[in-house]
Amino acid sequence: MAARYKTSKQSYVVGSGKGGVGKSTVAVNLAIALAKQGLSVALLDADIYGPSIPIMLGLRRLSTRTVQDAEGRQRFIPFNKFGIQAISIGFFLEESRAVAWRGPMLHGILEKMIAEVDWGSDLDLLLIDLPPGSGDVPISLSKLLHIDGALVVCTPQEVAMLDAIKAINAFEQLDIPLLGVIENMAGFTVPGTQDTYHIFGQGKAEELARRFNTRLLGSIPLISAIRRGGDEGYPAAFHHGADQGGRYFEELAETVKNIYGVNACR
Ligand SMILES: Nc1ncnc2c1ncn2[C@@H]1O[C@H](COP(=O)(O)OP(=O)(O)OP(=O)(O)O)[C@@H](O)[C@H]1O
Ligand SMILES: [Mg+2]
Repeated sequence: MAARYKTSKQSYVVGSGKGGVGKSTVAVNLAIALAKQGLSVALLDADIYGPSIPIMLGLRRLSTRTVQDAEGRQRFIPFNKFGIQAISIGFFLEESRAVAWRGPMLHGILEKMIAEVDWGSDLDLLLIDLPPGSGDVPISLSKLLHIDGALVVCTPQEVAMLDAIKAINAFEQLDIPLLGVIENMAGFTVPGTQDTYHIFGQGKAEELARRFNTRLLGSIPLISAIRRGGDEGYPAAFHHGADQGGRYFEELAETVKNIYGVNACR
């Protein structure tokens, strides 16, 4: 395949097929939790249709700064927050502006966010938050970068599993290895009680992992502090309170860090 850019030692996409299952929430919190565990991590928001990373990181309505490199080329400077670097299409557009992306434009903006950003020289991991669906964005990305794996987020419900199957099949066609499934929005436990409600059903993320002979990397319950952290730009993985959800991302990051370590030895 054509020459690809190299921004980091490894690059993983976070995808799901179905919209709204928590890809961006997982991507943001996992990136922060991995950084806390010592990896140098950058987050690329490739959701060109509805970028939510700026809001989730408390970087709303900001634009990227640029500098000129030694050869006089313009380079974008990623934001540095909560221990990670981040770049988003949202930093290049007005928040309320909807763009109908055509293939070459879409490829162009993704290329800009990869090739024209000053990522530094010692990035361990680039985590890429995908839009819903299994369309053009992963195709473009895999032409631009070597993608070392996909983390697939799935809620415990049937429709999420069916869409995730499509996404996994699309990754397979692009030679992106499936690293595992992350269950999100698993049961809701009423704070201070043992009463758990399985609002989005049960078991389908596990079934998905079994079907593809891969790992269930973690299971994150529905916790209102996780939602609040996203809306307020102060992610749960950065919270320190015991019941605020951070520990689930900590455990997930340990598992993903092990995978990173195994891949690095290949
Ligand atoms: N475990 C959780 N507990 C509570 N709320 C959550 C959890 N995971 C995600 N949410 C909330 O659900 C909503 C959707 O999450 P998010 O934006 O991460 O999904 P997404 O898959 O990235 O959506 P899209 O397909 O639009 O990109 C957000 O408001 C988020 O805060
Ligand atoms: Mg999203």
